Amino acid sequence: MKKYLITSALPYVNGLPHLGHLIGCLLPSDVYARFLRQKGENVLYICGTDEHGTPSEVGAAKENMPVEDYCTKYHNLHAEMYKGFNLSFDYFGRTCSEQNKEIVYRIFNELDKNGLISEKVTRQVYSVDDGRYLPDSYVMGTCPHCGYEKAKGDQCENCTKVLDPIDLIKPRSVISGSENLEIRETKHLFLQLPKLEKELTEWIETKKGIWPDIAYSIAQKWLKEGLQERGITRDLKWGFAVPKEGFDGKVFYVWFDAPIGYIGITKQWADEQPSQRCFEDWWLDKENVIHTEFMGKDNIPFHTITFPATLRGTGENWTEVSMLKGMNYLNFAGGKFSKSAHRGIFLDDAIKEFPADYWRYWLIANAPESDDSNFSFDQFATTVNKDLNDVLGNFINRVLKMTVNNFGQNVPPMSVITDSEKELYSTLDTLIETYTKHMHALEFRKAMSALREIWVSGNNYLAKTEPWKVVKTDMDYAGTILNTALNLIRLYAQLSAPIMPQTAQQMLDLFEISDEFVWPNLKMADYLMKIPTGTPFKLSDPLFQKIMPDKLSELKITYKEDE
Ligand code: 2FM
Ligand code: ZN
Repeated sequence: MKKYLITSALPYVNGLPHLGHLIGCLLPSDVYARFLRQKGENVLYICGTDEHGTPSEVGAAKENMPVEDYCTKYHNLHAEMYKGFNLSFDYFGRTCSEQNKEIVYRIFNELDKNGLISEKVTRQVYSVDDGRYLPDSYVMGTCPHCGYEKAKGDQCENCTKVLDPIDLIKPRSVISGSENLEIRETKHLFLQLPKLEKELTEWIETKKGIWPDIAYSIAQKWLKEGLQERGITRDLKWGFAVPKEGFDGKVFYVWFDAPIGYIGITKQWADEQPSQRCFEDWWLDKENVIHTEFMGKDNIPFHTITFPATLRGTGENWTEVSMLKGMNYLNFAGGKFSKSAHRGIFLDDAIKEFPADYWRYWLIANAPESDDSNFSFDQFATTVNKDLNDVLGNFINRVLKMTVNNFGQNVPPMSVITDSEKELYSTLDTLIETYTKHMHALEFRKAMSALREIWVSGNNYLAKTEPWKVVKTDMDYAGTILNTALNLIRLYAQLSAPIMPQTAQQMLDLFEISDEFVWPNLKMADYLMKIPTGTPFKLSDPLFQKIMPDKLSELKITYKEDE
C-alpha cells in the first residue's frame, strides 16, 4: 500500500501567523491530510517551526531573551494557534532539534564526500557597532537606481531592482541604524548546483503536466537562467555549527537546514515511539511514498531546485517531492498584513472572533490558487451568512425540526422511493465524484463549489418534494423524504469533515449511532439509507450564526480594513 507523506512549509518561528500563512500552506495541507485519512490511506502529516537565522537572533535580542528560549516561546505559540484551528499534524516539530542536526550533518557529509561542496571567500557587510555580520536584507540605504531611502540590501522595494548591499548609498544597519559598516572577507561553503543541473533538468522535465503550472514554470525559469552555486553557510551564532575545519563560528544557512527539517521532524516523531515508527519508512523508501508538499509561491524554487538537488547529491535514495501545491498570496484589503501596524487578522485574533470552521471554510473556498486574492470582511460575512447559514445550517435546522414535529426524535421509516429520490441520488453521485476528483487534484476552490452544490441539492430536494405539505396527506412518503434528508445530514458531515472538522463532528453526533469519518464509497441509492430506522437523534442549536451589520462595522474598524 502506498504511503502518503504530506508536508506543510515550516513557518518561521519569529513573528506570528496570520490568515495568509494559514491558507498559504497550513490549511490546505490539513484538508488534504484529513481527506486522505478519511479515504483510509496511510498518511503522515508533518510540520513544524523554522527556527534558525538572523530574524530569530534579532527577535531574541529585542525581547532580551536567550535565542533558545525565544524560539521555544514562539514555537509554543505557533503550536497553540494551530491547535485552535484544528490542524491535524501527526507531528509539529522544530528545525533546531537534535534529530534535524543529525540529518543535516549526514546529508552535508555525503555531499562533501561526493565533491559537491566548495569553499570560497566572500565579501560581507560587517557592522562594527552590532558586532556581527549583516545579511543583505539587514543593510538599508538609498537605492542607487531610484533614490528610495529605505531600500534593503537584497532588493529595492520601491523599484524592485535586485541589489547588492555594497551598491547602496549611505548604507546602515537595520538592527541598530549604525553606519559604521565594513566590508570584510569571510570564507563560506557552497553547494555545487551546476554539477547537478543536468540530472535536475531531466527530473523536472518528467513533472510537466504533473506539477501545477506555477511550480513547473518557476522551476523551469530557474533552470533556464542556469543554476549557480549556492552558499549554505553563514556568519551567525544561532544555527547548526558547520562540522568542518576552518569554519569555526559559522553555521548552516537557514534555507539549508529548513527543508531537511521535514526529515528531522519525521525523526522527532519516530523517536517518540521507536518500537513502532521509523523515519526511514517515509524518507528512504522512495518507491512506496507519495510526497505532497504545500507552500507559498515564494518557496517554490527551494522545493523544486535546491532541496531536491541537496537530496540527490547525497547519492542516497531520499524521498522526493511527487506533488507540490504552491499558493499565491492572500492580501488583506488590498495590502499586506502587519502585526506591528495592527492591520489584518492574525490567528490569535481570528479564533477569538469566530469559530475555526468559519475561517477554514472561507479560506479554502477563496484559496489564492490561480492568482493573489484578497480578504475582506464583507466577503467573509457574505460567505458565512449565505453558504454556511442559509444553505447548510438552515437545511439541517429545517429537517430536524420538521421530523421532530411530525415523527418525534427518531429517524422515520423509508418506504416508497419516487423519481425525486432517484434524481437526488444521481445528482449527488455526479457531484461527489467531481468533488472527490478536485480534492485529489488539490483544486480547492473547485472542490468547494462542488461541496456547495452538494449542500444546495438538499435544499432543492426539499423544495421539490415539499415535505411540509406531504405530512398532511401521505405520512409514508413524508417519512421517506425526512429519512432521506436526515441521511443527507450525515452525508454532509462526512463530506464537510476535511474542511470543517468541528462542525462535521457536531453533525455526526446528532445521531445516536457509532460513526466515524469515512469518505462515502457507495452509490447514493445505498448510502442514503444507512441510518437505521428508529435511530434517535438530537435537536441542536443552530450550527452557525450570521454575522450582523453592526458586528461587521466593528470588525472593519478593529482590523483597519478601510485604512
Ligand atoms: O517561507 C517560510 O516561511 C519558510 N520558513 C518556509 C520554509 S519551508 C521548509 F523548507 F522548511
Ligand atoms: Zn530603487
